[in-house]
Amino acid sequence: MAKTKLTLLIISFFTTFSVVCLSSPADFFLYGGCTQQRYTSNSPYESNLNSLLTSLVNSATYSSYNNLTVVGSSQSDAVYGLYQCRGDLAMPDCAACVSRAVSRAGQLCPATCGGAVQLDGCFIKYDNVTFLGVEDKTVVLKRCGPSVGFGPVGSGERDAVMGGLAGSGGYFRVGGSGDVKGVAQCCGDLSFAECQDCVGDAIRRLRSECAAADYGDVFLGKCYARFSTNGAHAYNYNKAHAGKSGNEGEKTFAIIVGLLAGVAILIIFLAFLRRICEGHGK
Ligand SMILES: *[C@@H]1O[C@H](CO)[C@@H](O)[C@H](O)[C@H]1NC(C)=O
Ligand SMILES: *[C@@H]1O[C@H](CO)[C@@H](O)[C@H](O)[C@H]1NC(C)=O
Repeated sequence: MAKTKLTLLIISFFTTFSVVCLSSPADFFLYGGCTQQRYTSNSPYESNLNSLLTSLVNSATYSSYNNLTVVGSSQSDAVYGLYQCRGDLAMPDCAACVSRAVSRAGQLCPATCGGAVQLDGCFIKYDNVTFLGVEDKTVVLKRCGPSVGFGPVGSGERDAVMGGLAGSGGYFRVGGSGDVKGVAQCCGDLSFAECQDCVGDAIRRLRSECAAADYGDVFLGKCYARFSTNGAHAYNYNKAHAGKSGNEGEKTFAIIVGLLAGVAILIIFLAFLRRICEGHGK
């Protein structure tokens, strides 16, 4: 009895701890979207989708990109999916991120045929229509930080970083100069030329639309480019961004778990006291 309570206490403590303290920046929610069509529960499509999502998470333990197709017994129940981790994410972190994105998609898109979720460290997308290997430059998220009215030096640094990102090849690109850091990532299903074209487009938008901002994010359908000055994103996430959009639910959850753990501790403590008192009474 006491052992069970102790176990519960330990579990709730570590749950609180892990939600509050260990939530990695890679898990920050950036955007998500769902298709209109829904599948019926217990349908072959649902079971194909579940097996696809499980396979995506498994695959993310050894590869930073993969695409999958699950057809099952009938072509009409086929589901297509992919994930892409940010190129600098280590393998266990990639799998953890994809797993997080999959559960996010489940909350966001219950029973819809298709969905997509972008966290800071990874992207997942699935649908019943194939989109694999198709370039997609639709603007999905564009966000510019507060204007800092760059002097000529600051804006020159940013342009140099953006130019470096645009010029370097590869699916994952990082650059930095002075206080400015930049990162770009393509989805692994694009060809080299498509990646170049997509990132070029994202950077053009960043330059023109976030010209005087201290950070900028442009996420297109299959690639993104971001820059930040003086760690502007870190500030944004830790302070201004906390409590907004994606983190709201997790924060509330953490608070509830924390409260429950507090109540559990109190109950166990009271029970413990009572036992000591009873023991003395006998
Ligand atoms: C995708 O699913 C929707 C709804 O179930 C259906 O109307 C549509 O025809 C499907 N598309 C394909 C390519 O199977
Ligand atoms: C999907 O994955 C398969 C094998 O993993 C690969 O051969 C194929 O090129 C990939 N397709 C795309 C569009 O990335």
